[in-house]
Amino acid sequence: MASYDITLEWVGGPTRTVDISERETVLEAARQADAPLPYGCRTGACGTCVGRLLAVDRTASVDVDATEDPIDVADAFAYQREPRALKPRHRDDGYVLLCIATPETARRVAVGSQVQSELVDNPWK
Ligand code: FES
Repeated sequence: MASYDITLEWVGGPTRTVDISERETVLEAARQADAPLPYGCRTGACGTCVGRLLAVDRTASVDVDATEDPIDVADAFAYQREPRALKPRHRDDGYVLLCIATPETARRVAVGSQVQSELVDNPWK
């Protein structure tokens, strides 16, 4: 069974890399590794666990105002069920629901409540 390093980057905070098997959700693995991610429903319905994929070659710290190149979430993660909390444009912008996403490659993901607020605070998203 394959596993991948997923680097979780809290906006304005720490970074943590967790080795996650292809059968495990990012949220499950992060919780087992004592990496506290926000969550609610754990079924893809509420959006509390949302993360944002970061460009693979980006080495600077997370900047909430930074605009990343478009990233295809489908290349990075598989979903265990339909991500109902995300609209198609959210997926196009690299947002991913970590409670139902299993990794398909090593990636960096911006996480934490600020990522969720990006969706909530911007009425155009
Ligand atoms: S915890 Fe609700 S969508 Fe992930």
